[in-house]
Amino acid sequence: MNYTDNNKNAFALTTPLYYVNDLPHIGSAYTTIAADVVARFQRLQGRDVLLITGTDEHGLKIQQAAQGRGLTPQQHCDEIAAGFEALWPKLNIQYDRFSRTTAARHHNIVKEFFGRVWDREDIYLGQQKGFYCVACEEFKEERELLPEGFCPLHPNKKTEWRDEQNYFFRLSKYQTQLEKLYQERPDFLQPESRRNEVLNFISQGLQDFSISRVNFDWGFPVPVDPNHILYVWFDALLGYVTALLDPEDEPTLENALSKWWPINLHLIGKDILRFHALYWPAMLMSAGLPLPGGVFVHGFLTKDGRKMSKSLGNTIDPVALVNRYGADAVRYYFIKEIEFGRDGDFNETRFVDILNADLADNLGNLLNRTLSMTHKYCGGKVPNLSGDDIPAENGLKAMGITLGEQVAQAYEALAFSDATAAILALLRAGNKYIDEQAPWTLYKQKQQAAVEQVLYSVLESVRLAAYLLSPIVPNIAHDIYQQLSFDINFNDKTQIAVAASFATHAKWGILTGGQILNKPRPVFGRLELAPTGE
Ligand code: MSP
Repeated sequence: MNYTDNNKNAFALTTPLYYVNDLPHIGSAYTTIAADVVARFQRLQGRDVLLITGTDEHGLKIQQAAQGRGLTPQQHCDEIAAGFEALWPKLNIQYDRFSRTTAARHHNIVKEFFGRVWDREDIYLGQQKGFYCVACEEFKEERELLPEGFCPLHPNKKTEWRDEQNYFFRLSKYQTQLEKLYQERPDFLQPESRRNEVLNFISQGLQDFSISRVNFDWGFPVPVDPNHILYVWFDALLGYVTALLDPEDEPTLENALSKWWPINLHLIGKDILRFHALYWPAMLMSAGLPLPGGVFVHGFLTKDGRKMSKSLGNTIDPVALVNRYGADAVRYYFIKEIEFGRDGDFNETRFVDILNADLADNLGNLLNRTLSMTHKYCGGKVPNLSGDDIPAENGLKAMGITLGEQVAQAYEALAFSDATAAILALLRAGNKYIDEQAPWTLYKQKQQAAVEQVLYSVLESVRLAAYLLSPIVPNIAHDIYQQLSFDINFNDKTQIAVAASFATHAKWGILTGGQILNKPRPVFGRLELAPTGE
Protein backbone atom coordinates (compact mmCIF):
# COMPACT_ATOMS: atom_id res chain seq x y z
CA MET A 1 0.00 0.00 0.00
CA ASN A 2 1.08 3.53 -0.55
CA TYR A 3 -0.70 5.44 2.16
CA THR A 4 2.18 7.50 3.52
CA ASP A 5 2.86 10.89 2.05
CA ASN A 6 6.58 11.44 1.88
CA ASN A 7 6.18 15.19 1.60
CA LYS A 8 4.47 15.30 4.94
CA ASN A 9 5.67 14.19 8.34
CA ALA A 10 2.19 13.98 9.82
CA PHE A 11 0.54 10.57 9.81
CA ALA A 12 -3.09 10.11 10.87
CA LEU A 13 -4.86 6.79 11.11
CA THR A 14 -8.19 5.57 12.39
CA THR A 15 -9.93 2.60 13.88
CA PRO A 16 -13.67 2.41 13.24
CA LEU A 17 -15.73 4.37 15.74
CA TYR A 18 -17.29 1.57 17.71
CA TYR A 19 -20.99 1.21 18.35
CA VAL A 20 -21.86 1.55 22.00
CA ASN A 21 -24.72 -0.90 22.00
CA ASP A 22 -22.50 -3.06 24.16
CA LEU A 23 -19.14 -3.18 25.92
CA PRO A 24 -16.02 -3.64 23.79
CA HIS A 25 -15.51 -7.13 22.43
CA ILE A 26 -12.46 -8.80 21.00
CA GLY A 27 -13.30 -7.61 17.47
CA SER A 28 -12.95 -3.97 18.49
CA ALA A 29 -9.82 -4.78 20.48
CA TYR A 30 -8.33 -6.49 17.43
CA THR A 31 -8.53 -3.47 15.11
CA THR A 32 -7.39 -1.13 17.83
CA ILE A 33 -4.33 -3.24 18.66
CA ALA A 34 -3.41 -3.32 14.98
CA ALA A 35 -3.86 0.45 14.72
CA ASP A 36 -1.63 0.98 17.74
CA VAL A 37 1.06 -1.22 16.18
CA VAL A 38 0.97 0.88 13.01
CA ALA A 39 1.04 4.10 15.05
CA ARG A 40 4.04 2.94 17.06
CA PHE A 41 5.86 1.81 13.93
CA GLN A 42 5.25 5.16 12.25
CA ARG A 43 6.52 6.97 15.35
CA LEU A 44 9.72 4.94 15.20
CA GLN A 45 10.01 6.15 11.61
CA GLY A 46 10.09 9.66 13.04
CA ARG A 47 6.57 10.61 11.98
CA ASP A 48 4.23 12.81 13.92
CA VAL A 49 1.33 10.42 14.48
CA LEU A 50 -2.32 10.93 15.31
CA LEU A 51 -4.15 7.74 16.25
CA ILE A 52 -7.90 8.20 16.22
CA THR A 53 -10.42 5.93 17.80
CA GLY A 54 -13.78 6.55 19.43
CA THR A 55 -17.42 5.66 19.60
CA ASP A 56 -20.39 5.83 17.27
CA GLU A 57 -23.28 6.66 19.54
CA HIS A 58 -26.34 7.56 17.49
CA GLY A 59 -28.99 5.49 15.75
CA LEU A 60 -31.86 3.20 16.48
CA LYS A 61 -29.66 0.33 17.65
CA ILE A 62 -28.17 2.45 20.44
CA GLN A 63 -31.53 3.94 21.35
CA GLN A 64 -32.98 0.46 21.73
CA ALA A 65 -29.99 -0.73 23.78
CA ALA A 66 -30.46 2.21 26.17
CA GLN A 67 -34.19 1.54 26.43
CA GLY A 68 -33.46 -2.08 27.21
CA ARG A 69 -31.35 -0.97 30.17
CA GLY A 70 -33.85 1.64 31.36
CA LEU A 71 -31.40 4.48 30.75
CA THR A 72 -31.53 7.60 28.64
CA PRO A 73 -29.49 7.19 25.45
CA GLN A 74 -26.92 9.70 26.68
CA GLN A 75 -26.49 8.00 30.06
CA HIS A 76 -26.09 4.69 28.31
CA CYS A 77 -23.55 6.08 25.82
CA ASP A 78 -21.50 7.76 28.55
CA GLU A 79 -21.25 4.50 30.43
CA ILE A 80 -20.26 2.33 27.49
CA ALA A 81 -17.89 4.91 26.00
CA ALA A 82 -16.14 4.95 29.40
CA GLY A 83 -15.76 1.16 29.08
CA PHE A 84 -13.93 1.64 25.79
CA GLU A 85 -11.73 4.38 27.19
CA ALA A 86 -10.83 2.16 30.13
CA LEU A 87 -9.94 -0.85 27.98
CA TRP A 88 -7.45 0.83 25.66
CA PRO A 89 -4.82 1.67 28.31
CA LYS A 90 -5.07 -1.89 29.62
CA LEU A 91 -4.02 -3.08 26.18
CA ASN A 92 -1.32 -0.39 26.16
CA ILE A 93 -2.98 1.41 23.28
CA GLN A 94 -1.78 4.98 22.98
CA TYR A 95 -4.55 6.75 21.13
CA ASP A 96 -4.34 10.46 20.56
CA ARG A 97 -8.01 11.22 19.98
CA PHE A 98 -11.18 9.62 21.25
CA SER A 99 -13.99 10.82 19.00
CA ARG A 100 -17.52 10.58 20.35
CA THR A 101 -20.27 11.28 17.86
CA THR A 102 -22.54 12.77 20.52
CA ALA A 103 -20.02 15.57 21.16
CA ALA A 104 -21.36 19.08 20.54
CA ARG A 105 -18.38 19.97 18.34
CA HIS A 106 -19.13 16.99 16.14
CA HIS A 107 -22.59 18.44 15.53
CA ASN A 108 -20.98 21.59 14.12
CA ILE A 109 -18.79 19.61 11.75
CA VAL A 110 -21.71 17.51 10.56
CA LYS A 111 -23.86 20.59 9.89
CA GLU A 112 -21.12 22.28 7.92
CA PHE A 113 -20.31 19.19 5.90
CA PHE A 114 -23.98 18.54 5.19
CA GLY A 115 -24.22 22.15 3.96
CA ARG A 116 -21.47 21.60 1.43
CA VAL A 117 -23.07 18.46 0.06
CA TRP A 118 -26.49 20.13 0.03
CA ASP A 119 -25.10 23.11 -1.90
CA ARG A 120 -23.76 20.68 -4.46
CA GLU A 121 -27.34 19.47 -4.88
CA ASP A 122 -26.31 15.97 -3.94
CA ILE A 123 -29.13 15.53 -1.41
CA TYR A 124 -32.81 15.17 -2.31
CA LEU A 125 -36.03 13.93 -0.75
CA GLY A 126 -37.31 10.59 -2.03
CA GLN A 127 -39.25 7.49 -1.07
CA GLN A 128 -37.34 4.66 0.63
CA LYS A 129 -38.78 1.19 0.47
CA GLY A 130 -36.83 -1.77 1.74
CA PHE A 131 -35.81 -4.15 4.49
CA TYR A 132 -33.83 -2.52 7.27
CA CYS A 133 -31.52 -4.36 9.68
CA VAL A 134 -31.25 -2.37 12.90
CA ALA A 135 -28.20 -4.37 14.03
CA CYS A 136 -26.36 -3.42 10.82
CA GLU A 137 -28.06 -0.01 10.63
CA GLU A 138 -28.38 -0.69 6.93
CA PHE A 139 -31.00 -1.41 4.26
CA LYS A 140 -30.60 -4.85 2.73
CA GLU A 141 -31.34 -6.06 -0.76
CA GLU A 142 -34.17 -8.59 -0.73
CA ARG A 143 -31.98 -11.16 -2.47
CA GLU A 144 -29.38 -10.96 0.35
CA LEU A 145 -31.86 -11.95 3.06
CA LEU A 146 -32.22 -15.33 4.70
CA PRO A 147 -35.64 -17.02 4.66
CA GLU A 148 -38.38 -15.04 6.45
CA GLY A 149 -36.39 -11.82 6.15
CA PHE A 150 -33.59 -12.57 8.61
CA CYS A 151 -30.34 -10.64 8.18
CA PRO A 152 -27.42 -12.66 6.77
CA LEU A 153 -25.02 -11.00 9.23
CA HIS A 154 -27.37 -11.30 12.18
CA PRO A 155 -29.25 -14.54 11.59
CA ASN A 156 -31.24 -14.09 14.80
CA LYS A 157 -32.44 -10.60 13.81
CA LYS A 158 -35.37 -10.09 11.48
CA THR A 159 -35.14 -7.11 9.14
CA GLU A 160 -37.98 -4.57 9.26
CA TRP A 161 -39.94 -3.41 6.22
CA ARG A 162 -39.79 0.36 5.73
CA ASP A 163 -41.72 2.54 3.32
CA GLU A 164 -41.02 6.16 4.19
CA GLN A 165 -39.80 9.49 2.92
CA ASN A 166 -36.05 9.86 3.37
CA TYR A 167 -33.37 12.21 2.19
CA PHE A 168 -31.02 10.55 -0.27
CA PHE A 169 -27.41 11.08 -1.17
CA ARG A 170 -26.70 10.97 -4.91
CA LEU A 171 -24.17 8.15 -4.88
CA SER A 172 -25.03 7.30 -8.50
CA LYS A 173 -23.59 10.65 -9.60
CA TYR A 174 -20.16 9.46 -8.42
CA GLN A 175 -20.15 6.17 -10.32
CA THR A 176 -17.55 7.30 -12.87
CA GLN A 177 -15.39 9.10 -10.35
CA LEU A 178 -15.32 6.04 -8.12
CA GLU A 179 -14.45 3.81 -11.05
CA LYS A 180 -11.61 6.19 -11.83
CA LEU A 181 -10.44 6.18 -8.23
CA TYR A 182 -10.11 2.40 -8.19
CA GLN A 183 -8.38 2.37 -11.58
CA GLU A 184 -5.94 5.13 -10.83
CA ARG A 185 -5.16 4.10 -7.28
CA PRO A 186 -5.15 0.30 -7.36
CA ASP A 187 -3.83 0.11 -3.81
CA PHE A 188 -6.34 2.56 -2.33
CA LEU A 189 -8.08 -0.42 -0.84
CA GLN A 190 -6.37 -3.60 0.34
CA PRO A 191 -6.28 -6.56 0.34
CA GLU A 192 -6.91 -7.41 -3.28
CA SER A 193 -9.84 -9.73 -2.55
CA ARG A 194 -11.76 -6.86 -0.92
CA ARG A 195 -10.90 -4.53 -3.77
CA ASN A 196 -12.41 -7.03 -6.17
CA GLU A 197 -15.54 -7.11 -4.07
CA VAL A 198 -15.80 -3.34 -4.36
CA LEU A 199 -15.14 -3.36 -8.11
CA ASN A 200 -17.84 -5.94 -8.52
CA PHE A 201 -20.23 -3.81 -6.52
CA ILE A 202 -19.45 -0.73 -8.60
CA SER A 203 -19.92 -2.63 -11.83
CA GLN A 204 -23.48 -3.51 -10.82
CA GLY A 205 -24.29 0.23 -10.85
CA LEU A 206 -24.35 2.39 -7.74
CA GLN A 207 -27.65 3.49 -6.29
CA ASP A 208 -28.37 6.55 -4.20
CA PHE A 209 -28.66 5.78 -0.50
CA SER A 210 -30.89 7.24 2.11
CA ILE A 211 -29.24 9.48 4.69
CA SER A 212 -32.15 10.23 6.97
CA ARG A 213 -34.57 8.29 9.11
CA VAL A 214 -37.94 9.11 10.63
CA ASN A 215 -39.88 7.88 13.69
CA PHE A 216 -37.06 8.06 16.21
CA ASP A 217 -34.96 10.86 17.57
CA TRP A 218 -31.56 9.63 18.76
CA GLY A 219 -29.31 11.48 16.33
CA PHE A 220 -28.70 14.89 14.77
CA PRO A 221 -31.67 16.46 13.02
CA VAL A 222 -31.23 16.91 9.27
CA PRO A 223 -30.15 20.57 9.05
CA VAL A 224 -32.72 21.44 6.38
CA ASP A 225 -35.59 19.44 7.89
CA PRO A 226 -35.71 18.72 11.63
CA ASN A 227 -38.47 16.13 11.14
CA HIS A 228 -35.76 13.80 9.92
CA ILE A 229 -32.83 12.37 11.83
CA LEU A 230 -29.56 12.07 10.00
CA TYR A 231 -28.63 8.47 9.17
CA VAL A 232 -26.10 7.21 11.69
CA TRP A 233 -23.47 6.34 9.07
CA PHE A 234 -23.48 9.82 7.52
CA ASP A 235 -22.81 11.21 10.97
CA ALA A 236 -20.35 8.49 12.05
CA LEU A 237 -17.93 8.73 9.13
CA LEU A 238 -17.59 12.42 9.83
CA GLY A 239 -16.47 11.53 13.34
CA TYR A 240 -13.08 10.92 11.74
CA VAL A 241 -12.96 14.56 10.69
CA THR A 242 -14.11 15.95 14.04
CA ALA A 243 -11.34 13.95 15.71
CA LEU A 244 -8.74 16.02 13.87
CA LEU A 245 -9.65 19.18 15.77
CA ASP A 246 -7.30 20.20 18.53
CA PRO A 247 -9.14 20.54 21.84
CA GLU A 248 -8.91 24.33 21.79
CA ASP A 249 -9.97 24.69 18.12
CA GLU A 250 -13.23 26.27 17.03
CA PRO A 251 -15.21 23.36 15.55
CA THR A 252 -15.09 24.34 11.88
CA LEU A 253 -14.27 22.18 8.89
CA GLU A 254 -11.42 24.48 8.00
CA ASN A 255 -9.77 23.93 11.38
CA ALA A 256 -10.40 20.21 11.34
CA LEU A 257 -8.83 19.81 7.92
CA SER A 258 -5.88 22.13 8.44
CA LYS A 259 -3.21 19.85 9.86
CA TRP A 260 -3.91 16.17 9.48
CA TRP A 261 -6.15 15.86 6.45
CA PRO A 262 -6.15 13.72 4.40
CA ILE A 263 -6.09 10.88 6.90
CA ASN A 264 -3.47 8.38 5.79
CA LEU A 265 -5.08 5.12 6.72
CA HIS A 266 -8.45 3.76 7.77
CA LEU A 267 -8.41 0.30 9.34
CA ILE A 268 -11.75 -1.48 9.19
CA GLY A 269 -13.36 -4.92 9.37
CA LYS A 270 -14.88 -6.55 6.32
CA ASP A 271 -18.50 -5.91 7.33
CA ILE A 272 -18.13 -2.14 6.95
CA LEU A 273 -16.37 -2.22 3.60
CA ARG A 274 -19.10 -0.60 1.52
CA PHE A 275 -19.34 2.42 3.78
CA HIS A 276 -15.62 3.14 3.65
CA ALA A 277 -14.94 2.08 0.08
CA LEU A 278 -17.89 3.76 -1.64
CA TYR A 279 -20.03 6.00 0.54
CA TRP A 280 -17.17 7.77 2.28
CA PRO A 281 -15.09 8.60 -0.83
CA ALA A 282 -18.25 9.79 -2.62
CA MET A 283 -19.25 11.99 0.31
CA LEU A 284 -15.76 13.52 0.31
CA MET A 285 -15.85 14.03 -3.46
CA SER A 286 -19.16 15.81 -3.08
CA ALA A 287 -17.77 18.07 -0.38
CA GLY A 288 -14.72 18.79 -2.58
CA LEU A 289 -12.20 17.21 -0.21
CA PRO A 290 -9.13 15.11 -0.97
CA LEU A 291 -9.50 11.40 -0.32
CA PRO A 292 -7.73 9.39 2.39
CA GLY A 293 -4.43 7.64 1.68
CA GLY A 294 -5.90 4.16 1.90
CA VAL A 295 -8.27 1.70 3.51
CA PHE A 296 -7.18 -1.67 4.85
CA VAL A 297 -9.80 -4.31 5.52
CA HIS A 298 -9.15 -7.04 8.06
CA GLY A 299 -11.01 -10.29 8.54
CA PHE A 300 -13.16 -11.66 11.32
CA LEU A 301 -12.10 -13.53 14.41
CA THR A 302 -13.63 -16.85 15.23
CA LYS A 303 -13.34 -18.85 18.44
CA ASP A 304 -12.28 -22.47 18.21
CA GLY A 305 -13.29 -22.41 14.57
CA ARG A 306 -16.80 -21.05 15.16
CA LYS A 307 -18.22 -17.59 14.56
CA MET A 308 -18.29 -15.62 17.78
CA SER A 309 -21.69 -14.56 18.91
CA LYS A 310 -23.55 -13.79 22.06
CA SER A 311 -26.19 -16.38 21.33
CA LEU A 312 -23.55 -19.11 20.99
CA GLY A 313 -22.00 -17.84 24.23
CA ASN A 314 -18.51 -18.05 22.76
CA THR A 315 -17.43 -14.42 22.71
CA ILE A 316 -14.05 -13.49 24.16
CA ASP A 317 -13.92 -10.76 26.74
CA PRO A 318 -10.79 -8.69 26.05
CA VAL A 319 -10.72 -7.42 29.63
CA ALA A 320 -10.62 -10.94 31.07
CA LEU A 321 -7.96 -11.95 28.58
CA VAL A 322 -5.70 -9.04 29.36
CA ASN A 323 -6.22 -9.40 33.10
CA ARG A 324 -5.14 -12.99 32.90
CA TYR A 325 -2.30 -12.89 30.40
CA GLY A 326 -1.17 -9.26 30.17
CA ALA A 327 -1.23 -6.71 27.37
CA ASP A 328 1.85 -7.86 25.47
CA ALA A 329 0.64 -11.45 25.29
CA VAL A 330 -2.75 -10.48 23.89
CA ARG A 331 -1.24 -8.03 21.41
CA TYR A 332 1.34 -10.55 20.24
CA TYR A 333 -1.10 -13.38 19.66
CA PHE A 334 -3.53 -11.43 17.50
CA ILE A 335 -0.85 -9.66 15.53
CA LYS A 336 1.35 -12.66 14.93
CA GLU A 337 -1.09 -15.48 14.64
CA ILE A 338 -3.68 -13.94 12.38
CA GLU A 339 -2.67 -12.84 8.94
CA PHE A 340 -3.95 -9.27 8.77
CA GLY A 341 -6.64 -9.17 6.10
CA ARG A 342 -7.83 -12.75 6.63
CA ASP A 343 -10.14 -14.38 9.10
CA GLY A 344 -8.40 -15.94 12.07
CA ASP A 345 -9.12 -18.09 15.02
CA PHE A 346 -8.68 -17.73 18.75
CA ASN A 347 -7.92 -20.91 20.60
CA GLU A 348 -6.66 -20.63 24.14
CA THR A 349 -4.37 -23.66 24.04
CA ARG A 350 -2.72 -22.33 20.91
CA PHE A 351 -2.53 -18.89 22.51
CA VAL A 352 -0.58 -20.25 25.48
CA ASP A 353 1.63 -22.46 23.31
CA ILE A 354 2.63 -19.69 20.92
CA LEU A 355 3.43 -17.22 23.64
CA ASN A 356 5.49 -19.69 25.57
CA ALA A 357 7.39 -20.80 22.47
CA ASP A 358 8.04 -17.36 21.01
CA LEU A 359 8.26 -14.94 23.90
CA ALA A 360 9.24 -17.06 26.89
CA ASP A 361 11.59 -19.48 25.09
CA ASN A 362 12.92 -18.04 21.88
CA LEU A 363 13.17 -14.45 23.05
CA GLY A 364 13.20 -14.44 26.86
CA ASN A 365 15.44 -17.44 27.46
CA LEU A 366 17.89 -16.41 24.82
CA LEU A 367 18.36 -13.04 26.47
CA ASN A 368 18.51 -14.58 29.90
CA ARG A 369 21.19 -17.11 29.24
CA THR A 370 23.27 -14.81 27.04
CA LEU A 371 23.22 -12.09 29.68
CA SER A 372 24.13 -14.59 32.39
CA MET A 373 27.08 -15.79 30.34
CA THR A 374 28.16 -12.22 29.68
CA HIS A 375 28.20 -11.67 33.43
CA LYS A 376 30.17 -14.86 33.94
CA TYR A 377 32.64 -14.62 31.10
CA CYS A 378 32.90 -10.91 30.25
CA GLY A 379 32.55 -9.08 33.57
CA GLY A 380 28.94 -8.02 32.92
CA LYS A 381 29.88 -5.69 30.07
CA VAL A 382 29.17 -5.78 26.37
CA PRO A 383 32.32 -7.36 24.89
CA ASN A 384 34.64 -4.73 23.55
CA LEU A 385 33.57 -5.03 19.94
CA SER A 386 31.42 -3.29 17.41
CA GLY A 387 29.26 -4.73 14.69
CA ASP A 388 32.06 -4.09 12.19
CA ASP A 389 34.39 -6.42 14.12
CA ILE A 390 32.09 -9.38 13.53
CA PRO A 391 32.98 -11.16 10.28
CA ALA A 392 30.48 -10.99 7.42
CA GLU A 393 30.19 -14.80 7.43
CA ASN A 394 28.64 -14.70 10.91
CA GLY A 395 25.14 -16.03 10.27
CA LEU A 396 23.46 -13.71 12.77
CA LYS A 397 25.13 -10.65 11.32
CA ALA A 398 24.20 -11.72 7.81
CA MET A 399 20.55 -12.02 8.84
CA GLY A 400 20.60 -8.95 11.07
CA ILE A 401 21.89 -6.45 8.57
CA THR A 402 18.96 -6.87 6.22
CA LEU A 403 16.32 -7.51 8.85
CA GLY A 404 15.46 -3.89 9.68
CA GLU A 405 14.59 -3.09 6.09
CA GLN A 406 12.68 -6.33 5.62
CA VAL A 407 10.61 -5.81 8.76
CA ALA A 408 9.97 -2.16 7.93
CA GLN A 409 8.54 -3.20 4.57
CA ALA A 410 6.33 -5.77 6.23
CA TYR A 411 5.01 -3.27 8.79
CA GLU A 412 4.44 -0.72 6.03
CA ALA A 413 2.45 -3.32 4.07
CA LEU A 414 0.55 -4.19 7.29
CA ALA A 415 1.87 -7.72 6.88
CA PHE A 416 2.39 -8.07 10.62
CA SER A 417 2.69 -11.83 10.63
CA ASP A 418 5.51 -11.57 8.07
CA ALA A 419 7.26 -9.03 10.28
CA THR A 420 7.09 -11.31 13.33
CA ALA A 421 8.11 -14.37 11.31
CA ALA A 422 11.27 -12.62 10.10
CA ILE A 423 12.16 -11.46 13.62
CA LEU A 424 11.52 -14.91 15.05
CA ALA A 425 13.79 -16.43 12.41
CA LEU A 426 16.66 -14.34 13.78
CA LEU A 427 15.89 -15.43 17.34
CA ARG A 428 15.73 -19.08 16.37
CA ALA A 429 19.04 -18.69 14.57
CA GLY A 430 20.42 -17.05 17.73
CA ASN A 431 19.41 -20.02 19.87
CA LYS A 432 20.88 -22.46 17.40
CA TYR A 433 24.08 -20.47 17.08
CA ILE A 434 24.69 -20.31 20.81
CA ASP A 435 24.09 -24.05 21.17
CA GLU A 436 26.46 -24.81 18.32
CA GLN A 437 29.17 -22.39 19.38
CA ALA A 438 28.91 -23.46 23.05
CA PRO A 439 30.61 -20.41 24.58
CA TRP A 440 30.86 -22.33 27.90
CA THR A 441 33.27 -24.76 26.19
CA LEU A 442 35.11 -21.97 24.39
CA TYR A 443 35.55 -20.28 27.77
CA LYS A 444 36.98 -23.43 29.31
CA GLN A 445 39.34 -23.65 26.34
CA LYS A 446 40.39 -20.07 27.09
CA GLN A 447 39.24 -18.84 23.70
CA GLN A 448 38.12 -15.48 25.09
CA ALA A 449 38.01 -13.66 21.74
CA ALA A 450 35.68 -16.32 20.33
CA VAL A 451 33.47 -16.20 23.45
CA GLU A 452 33.16 -12.45 23.06
CA GLN A 453 32.26 -12.66 19.40
CA VAL A 454 29.54 -15.18 20.10
CA LEU A 455 28.03 -13.26 23.00
CA TYR A 456 28.21 -9.94 21.19
CA SER A 457 26.45 -11.38 18.14
CA VAL A 458 23.67 -12.92 20.17
CA LEU A 459 23.12 -9.95 22.47
CA GLU A 460 22.97 -7.64 19.49
CA SER A 461 20.51 -9.92 17.73
CA VAL A 462 18.24 -9.98 20.77
CA ARG A 463 18.45 -6.21 20.99
CA LEU A 464 17.51 -5.82 17.34
CA ALA A 465 14.65 -8.30 17.69
CA ALA A 466 13.35 -6.44 20.75
CA TYR A 467 13.51 -3.13 18.92
CA LEU A 468 11.69 -4.47 15.87
CA LEU A 469 9.07 -6.11 18.07
CA SER A 470 8.54 -2.94 20.11
CA PRO A 471 5.42 -1.79 18.20
CA ILE A 472 3.80 -5.11 19.13
CA VAL A 473 5.18 -5.86 22.60
CA PRO A 474 6.36 -2.49 23.92
CA ASN A 475 6.67 -3.60 27.55
CA ILE A 476 8.87 -6.57 26.77
CA ALA A 477 10.97 -4.48 24.39
CA HIS A 478 11.41 -1.88 27.12
CA ASP A 479 12.43 -4.53 29.62
CA ILE A 480 15.02 -5.99 27.26
CA TYR A 481 16.42 -2.59 26.44
CA GLN A 482 16.72 -1.84 30.14
CA GLN A 483 18.64 -5.03 30.80
CA LEU A 484 20.96 -4.01 28.00
CA SER A 485 21.32 -0.63 29.75
CA PHE A 486 19.56 1.53 27.19
CA ASP A 487 17.67 4.41 28.65
CA ILE A 488 14.74 4.12 26.24
CA ASN A 489 11.13 3.61 27.14
CA PHE A 490 9.08 2.44 24.18
CA ASN A 491 5.94 3.69 25.88
CA ASP A 492 7.17 7.26 26.01
CA LYS A 493 6.06 8.85 22.75
CA THR A 494 8.12 11.98 23.08
CA GLN A 495 11.25 10.07 23.92
CA ILE A 496 11.15 7.57 21.10
CA ALA A 497 10.80 10.23 18.44
CA VAL A 498 14.24 11.53 19.38
CA ALA A 499 16.07 8.63 20.95
CA ALA A 500 14.84 5.48 19.27
CA SER A 501 14.65 6.23 15.58
CA PHE A 502 14.49 3.40 13.12
CA ALA A 503 17.41 4.87 11.21
CA THR A 504 19.72 4.09 14.15
CA HIS A 505 18.19 1.23 16.10
CA ALA A 506 16.99 -0.97 13.25
CA LYS A 507 20.60 -1.58 12.21
CA TRP A 508 22.54 -4.62 13.34
CA GLY A 509 25.76 -3.82 15.21
CA ILE A 510 24.98 -0.79 17.36
CA LEU A 511 25.62 -2.30 20.81
CA THR A 512 28.53 -0.42 22.26
CA GLY A 513 31.46 -2.39 23.61
CA GLY A 514 32.09 -1.81 27.30
CA GLN A 515 28.46 -0.86 28.07
CA ILE A 516 27.63 -2.19 31.55
CA LEU A 517 24.80 -4.70 31.49
CA ASN A 518 22.12 -5.19 34.09
CA LYS A 519 21.42 -8.47 35.84
CA PRO A 520 19.19 -10.77 33.82
CA ARG A 521 15.59 -11.21 34.89
CA PRO A 522 12.84 -12.98 32.98
CA VAL A 523 11.04 -10.72 30.51
CA PHE A 524 8.08 -13.02 29.99
CA GLY A 525 6.93 -15.63 32.51
CA ARG A 526 5.61 -18.88 31.07
CA LEU A 527 1.83 -18.93 30.77
CA GLU A 528 -0.47 -21.58 32.15
CA LEU A 529 -3.76 -22.38 30.47
CA ALA A 530 -6.72 -21.08 32.48
CA PRO A 531 -8.59 -23.98 34.10
CA THR A 532 -11.79 -24.65 32.14
CA GLY A 533 -14.77 -22.71 33.31
CA GLU A 534 -12.71 -19.69 34.32
N1 MSP B 1 -20.02 1.98 14.23
C1 MSP B 1 -19.60 1.25 13.09
C2 MSP B 1 -18.32 1.83 12.52
C3 MSP B 1 -18.40 3.28 12.16
S1 MSP B 1 -16.88 3.88 11.55
C4 MSP B 1 -17.16 5.48 11.16
C5 MSP B 1 -19.39 -0.21 13.46
N2 MSP B 1 -19.13 -0.46 14.73
S2 MSP B 1 -18.97 -1.92 15.36
O1 MSP B 1 -18.68 -1.70 16.74
O2 MSP B 1 -20.10 -2.72 15.07
O3 MSP B 1 -17.81 -2.63 14.65
C6 MSP B 1 -16.55 -2.09 14.73
C7 MSP B 1 -15.50 -2.95 14.09
O4 MSP B 1 -15.39 -4.20 14.78
C8 MSP B 1 -15.76 -3.27 12.63
O5 MSP B 1 -14.58 -2.97 11.89
C9 MSP B 1 -16.02 -4.75 12.63
O6 MSP B 1 -15.54 -5.33 11.47
C10 MSP B 1 -15.19 -5.20 13.82
N3 MSP B 1 -15.64 -6.51 14.31
C11 MSP B 1 -16.82 -6.85 14.87
N4 MSP B 1 -16.82 -8.20 15.15
C12 MSP B 1 -15.64 -8.72 14.77
C13 MSP B 1 -15.02 -9.97 14.87
N5 MSP B 1 -15.62 -11.04 15.37
N6 MSP B 1 -13.73 -10.06 14.42
C14 MSP B 1 -13.04 -8.98 13.96
N7 MSP B 1 -13.58 -7.80 13.86
C15 MSP B 1 -14.91 -7.65 14.13
O7 MSP B 1 -19.43 -1.04 12.59
